[in-house]
Amino acid sequence: MESSSSERAPAGPVVRAERVTRVHRDGRRELKSLDQVSLTVSAGEVVAVTGPSGAGKTSLLHILGGLDTGYRGRAWVAGTDWRTLHGSERARFRRRACGFVVQGLGLLPQATAAENIEVPLLLDGVAPGARRTRVAEALALVGLADQGAKLPDQLSGGQQQRVAIARALVNGPALILADEPTGSLDSATAASVVRLLLSAARERGAAVVLVTHDPQVARHADAVARLRSGRLDTPVRESPKE
Ligand SMILES: Nc1ncnc2c1ncn2[C@@H]1O[C@H](COP(=O)(O)OP(=O)(O)OP(=O)(O)O)[C@@H](O)[C@H]1O
Ligand SMILES: [Mg+2]
Repeated sequence: MESSSSERAPAGPVVRAERVTRVHRDGRRELKSLDQVSLTVSAGEVVAVTGPSGAGKTSLLHILGGLDTGYRGRAWVAGTDWRTLHGSERARFRRRACGFVVQGLGLLPQATAAENIEVPLLLDGVAPGARRTRVAEALALVGLADQGAKLPDQLSGGQQQRVAIARALVNGPALILADEPTGSLDSATAASVVRLLLSAARERGAAVVLVTHDPQVARHADAVARLRSGRLDTPVRESPKE
């Protein structure tokens, strides 16, 4: 979308983590959900984060998206260190720079597909005319041009997932963070939803961090980052420098 392209970072690192360590304290016990994790994802690049349950995948996504501040190390999005942003400024930057597709979708049940997609634009104060255009574009992008008036429970699981993807993309974010976006779908639907997410993101030059248990889903990524007990045990393939 033209109006938001100036907010996107040019080719180069969109998201970067440097030696991120996250320690949770449970009484006297300490648990490291992330241990010295470093990761860089460039514009147009898709990195899959895999690993067993409890490996730290969601913890990493939360830090990359500025939802968690209690970590050591540094994390940047579009050149901005999350630690330099606070309160409403931080929330506003997150809304503009990051699109989230989460487990369980987070769609509002009483709002139509179109209204759900519109939420980030409303929060950002986008004018009504521009909102309508961008919601229609986002619906078309995910193949739901004629389904905008339906409520989430009138849509199939795969269609609901596509609404969540459209909502994540509608602000033209530089970074898409997806946590098991296909967890509840059958494998054929999951594959088509992932293809859609990745082609939409690549087309817009967004960077994608995609958490998945599914090796078939990870196959679509440019690189795979494997987490085990909070450590990345496979270095992410460096994208070629242009
Ligand atoms: N707020 C918290 N307090 C205490 N421990 C936490 C907290 N958040 C996460 N953890 C612990 O950190 C570890 C990593 O959790 P995380 O949610 O990142 O795993 P995950 O890889 O996303 O797992 P799953 O595949 O099951 O979603 C787990 O052992 C978890 O119990
Ligand atoms: Mg998780």
